[in-house]
Amino acid sequence: MLNYKDLWKRSLAVVPSGVHSPVRSFASVGGEPIFFSKAKGPYLWDIKGNKYIDFCLAFGPLILGHCDPEISHVIKETAENADCFGACEPYSLALAEFINRELPFLEKIRFVSSGTEAVMSTLRLARAATKREYVLKFEGCYHGHVDSLLVRAGSIPDSAGVTKIQSQNTFVLSLDDENSLEEFFQKNGKKLALAIIEPLPANNGLVVQRHSFLQKLADLCKQYGALLCFDEVISGFRVARQGMAGLTGIQADFTCLGKIIGGGFPVGAYCGRQELMDLLAPEGPVYQAGTLSANPFGMRAGLATLEKCKRDAIYEPLAELTKDFCQTLNTLLNTYTNLNWDLISFASLFWLKNKTPETIRSISAIPKEHQQNYAKIFHLFLDAGIYLPPSGFEVCFLSLAHTAEVLDEALEKIKKKLRNQSII
Ligand SMILES: Cc1ncc(COP(=O)(O)O)c(C=O)c1O
Repeated sequence: MLNYKDLWKRSLAVVPSGVHSPVRSFASVGGEPIFFSKAKGPYLWDIKGNKYIDFCLAFGPLILGHCDPEISHVIKETAENADCFGACEPYSLALAEFINRELPFLEKIRFVSSGTEAVMSTLRLARAATKREYVLKFEGCYHGHVDSLLVRAGSIPDSAGVTKIQSQNTFVLSLDDENSLEEFFQKNGKKLALAIIEPLPANNGLVVQRHSFLQKLADLCKQYGALLCFDEVISGFRVARQGMAGLTGIQADFTCLGKIIGGGFPVGAYCGRQELMDLLAPEGPVYQAGTLSANPFGMRAGLATLEKCKRDAIYEPLAELTKDFCQTLNTLLNTYTNLNWDLISFASLFWLKNKTPETIRSISAIPKEHQQNYAKIFHLFLDAGIYLPPSGFEVCFLSLAHTAEVLDEALEKIKKKLRNQSII
């Protein structure tokens, strides 16, 4: 009989830190990770057959839930007809045309295999288009593990192995701060190739920005001839049909997509105005390529996902359900713990956080004890059969499979667990 401890021990022997992506390791919440072997709808099953309601949802791609029947159907069909082509095929065209119809200002789209690749390629393209070197990012926004964006503040590398040369042209500003934006652009605006931001920062908590801050950034980019990239790898086709671009009315020069557009398979995309995207090879001078780019599984699963989201008009009902669920969960947590919770939701994302004197709009406003408080709740929930992301800085997701009944089931499990627990 398989058990976690054995698998974890074996993983540690052959895989660095036992995982293929750091957050999976439970390093932030303590303990050893669970090994899952099956997933369907809103549920996960571990290798012992225990069932969990999943609010981590693979960190965002599964807006329809695990193994939605329509997605499984196209995947089976694809598997019988193709694995990969490395040549032209109609599937990526259909997905590109769909995205272009939904977001017509994204005139051209290039598919890659991850969000990281999309961002990395956008950066290269922006530098080539502007013939400038500087890049601006914002504290707490994650854009994949691109060397020059793994920078904490003031061009200091945030990962061993990132050299000073790779990070020296990267500038980091605090979110929610128009004054430092003004100051930065006055000093560096004419050397800036690209400003990149998650318009809905969701990688260091859910740090919703004021519209006026995003607009100011867009205006300054325009004024100084710098390009703007909205990294919508999480928010694209998650918060609304047109993502944050639709909700804010701000059209960036570039948009990076990933997660949902691959329906659970490895897909990223970078998109933008035609004159910029046409700088790409082979016609243009900017090189970028990929053996598995536009793989038919991701293309077909992605299109089926986006079509279903549109056909079933899922966004508003899902946002309502998420909001109601968060309110009830908040009351439960405040009834049975002493940690003073104040959950926040945005569309079908939510974040478990404690109450703070002011709305959290920048990373410095997140209380120091946040991770510690979250870890306690994470383990209580896990014992109750609820799987949350194994870090307090990751956000939770709902999917179409998280029906009102499933959410009631989750609340019931949590209530039962908290009731039998001494106050934390
Ligand atoms: C906003 C954002 N950009 C880029 C990435 C990198 O995407 P990937 O993990 O597919 O490389 C992520 C991943 O979580 C992300 O959230």
